[in-house]
Amino acid sequence: MQTATIRFDRFNDLADDACQERIQAARARLGSKAVLLCHHYQRADVYRHADLTGDSLKLSRLAAQADSQYIVFCGVHFMAEVADILSRPEQISILPDLAAGCSMADMASLAKVERCWRELREIVGDPDRVYTPVTYINSAADLKAFCGEHGGIVCTSSNARKILEWSVARREKVLFFPDQHLGRWSGHRMGIPLERMKVWDPDREFGGLTPEEIRDARMLLWKGHCSVHQMFQLSHIERFRKQHPDGIVIAHPECNFDVCSHADYVGSTEYILKTVKAAPPGTRWLVGTELNLVERLAEEVKPEGKIVQFMASTICMCSTMQRIDPQHLAWCLENLAEGNVVNRIQVPGHEAELARIALNRMLEVS
Ligand code: 13P
Ligand code: SF4
Repeated sequence: MQTATIRFDRFNDLADDACQERIQAARARLGSKAVLLCHHYQRADVYRHADLTGDSLKLSRLAAQADSQYIVFCGVHFMAEVADILSRPEQISILPDLAAGCSMADMASLAKVERCWRELREIVGDPDRVYTPVTYINSAADLKAFCGEHGGIVCTSSNARKILEWSVARREKVLFFPDQHLGRWSGHRMGIPLERMKVWDPDREFGGLTPEEIRDARMLLWKGHCSVHQMFQLSHIERFRKQHPDGIVIAHPECNFDVCSHADYVGSTEYILKTVKAAPPGTRWLVGTELNLVERLAEEVKPEGKIVQFMASTICMCSTMQRIDPQHLAWCLENLAEGNVVNRIQVPGHEAELARIALNRMLEVS
């Protein structure tokens, strides 16, 4: 039975403890109607309610396999879009706070990618014959649709190298957006020389490149980055290694090239968690990824005598992931329990169809 939508302002000032109780009560009422998927960067007071957790690739698969009517996504906007695209039409994807976006995803827009495609046409001829467009999953659905339409594909931080191998086997060159760092690191790991990867600045004509540079480049790297991971610097690793010569460094591939190439391990959030948890007792780690994950991991492995340190000297959290707080979660679950759908994320039909092509290619390849 549907009742009038409960307004968020009734939750705004609700104390965290009260929210926890109301989240549990609403979940009990919803039962198997709702599944809570949580990204590893979620704050502890939200993460503890997760049914399932993961990195972007794992969460995409989980969303595709979900059986429940509601998929409540504690993460950011593009993740809830992916859940909508990969789930069945009758399932409903919910993002508890619509302001939870990803600043990196916002660095590429369809208009700018289409302009890039037009400019490439002037230099190399039909770009559909020359470039495989590859979008990092951290991007809007219309860019995934662009890739679906133009023979391209989606990648995540855990499969980027495999996806690039698939891409260069099909066409000579790759246009990679929006994260230049993930593109560069993955291209390097495949053996593409750094000088054959050029940064495409979407705010300049022809990406700020000469025709020769465009023709010579095997990979064009969109000028985008993650504002959280850009905080990690080589100097942090150097200081750690000096203080702890036996210490081990692990970083997310959204970190810059210097950080990735001086780390002992590089991988997705799920990979980071698995690697540190599987390490021998007594090891010391420097971790270059978001603070919520690092703090939770540090607590978890402390009983085994493992020490986990955050890579940056300043606190850097993903401020948009943080927007999913207990107040928003309680509000949206209580509404669902009353039969009111709030904050639905729904990708328009044709766009979803094309985006699904690119996402399914990724799921098949990885
Ligand atoms: P993962 O896929 O590794 O979880 O990364 C997502 C993300 O946004 C990292 O900043
Ligand atoms: Fe986006 Fe960076 Fe936040 Fe990941 S950490 S969701 S890339 S802004």
